[in-house]
Amino acid sequence: MNILQFIAKRTGLGKRHAKKLLENGEIILNGDPVSDGTTPLSKFDYLIAAGDVLQSNTRRIILLHKPAGILSATKDPNYKTVIDLINEPWAAELHLAGRLDRATTGLVILTNDSSFSESLTRPGNKVPKTYLVETDLPIPAETIAAFRNGMSFAKEKIHTQPAIVILLSETSCRLTIYEGKHHQIKRMFLRFGIRVTKLHRESIGSYHLHHEHAPGEYLEVDSYFSDLSA
Ligand code: URA
Repeated sequence: MNILQFIAKRTGLGKRHAKKLLENGEIILNGDPVSDGTTPLSKFDYLIAAGDVLQSNTRRIILLHKPAGILSATKDPNYKTVIDLINEPWAAELHLAGRLDRATTGLVILTNDSSFSESLTRPGNKVPKTYLVETDLPIPAETIAAFRNGMSFAKEKIHTQPAIVILLSETSCRLTIYEGKHHQIKRMFLRFGIRVTKLHRESIGSYHLHHEHAPGEYLEVDSYFSDLSA
C-alpha cells in the first residue's frame, strides 16, 4: 500500500484530504516530511499526519531457548507451544522463523516481521544453522564425507549444500547445514543407520544462544543485521 492510500483509509477522510495533507507538508514519515503519495509504506514505518500518530508498529525479534517437549507452533490443542513461553502482551503477533522438532532444544527465532523471517528461511539465502548432535553409534568417516559433499533428498528434490562437520567425540559432532527440511538432520544420519539421540541448535546465521540463556528463557533483540550469512 502506498502512503496516500494508507492515509485515506486510516483517517477515513478519503484521498482528497490525504493529498492535501501531503501537499501541506503535514505528513511525517520516519521523522522527515514526505509529499509524494506514491511512497510505499511498510509495516514498521513511523507515520504522523497533522500531529497524530497514524502508525507506530514496533518490530519484534525474539531469541528463545526452546526446551525439549515444547512445540514449534503458535497454537496447539495438546502441547505447550513456543508462544506460550513468551510472557509479553504482544506475544500473539509473533510467528516462527524456522521450526525445531518437539524433542530438539535450542535457538528458535520469533518475530512479527515477515520480511525478516523470510530472509532467514528462504532457501536461496543459504543461512547457516549450527547444531550439536549426539548419536547412538559412532559417526564413521563415510558419513562425514557424505555430509560434506551434500546429500540428495528425493521427496524435496534437493541436493543439500556441503555441510560443515566438526567431530567432537566418536558419537557427537557440531554440524552446520544450510537448509531447514523436515527432520533433516535425523534423516541425514538415518541414511547411515545412525539415530540422533540429542539435538540442540546453537545458532541461526549471526544469531547465537549464549550460556546464560537457560531453556525457556528468551531475549528481545532490537535490531537485526542485514548480513545473515555471517
Ligand atoms: N533437523 C532435525 O532432524 N530436527 C530438528 O529439529 C532440526 C533439524
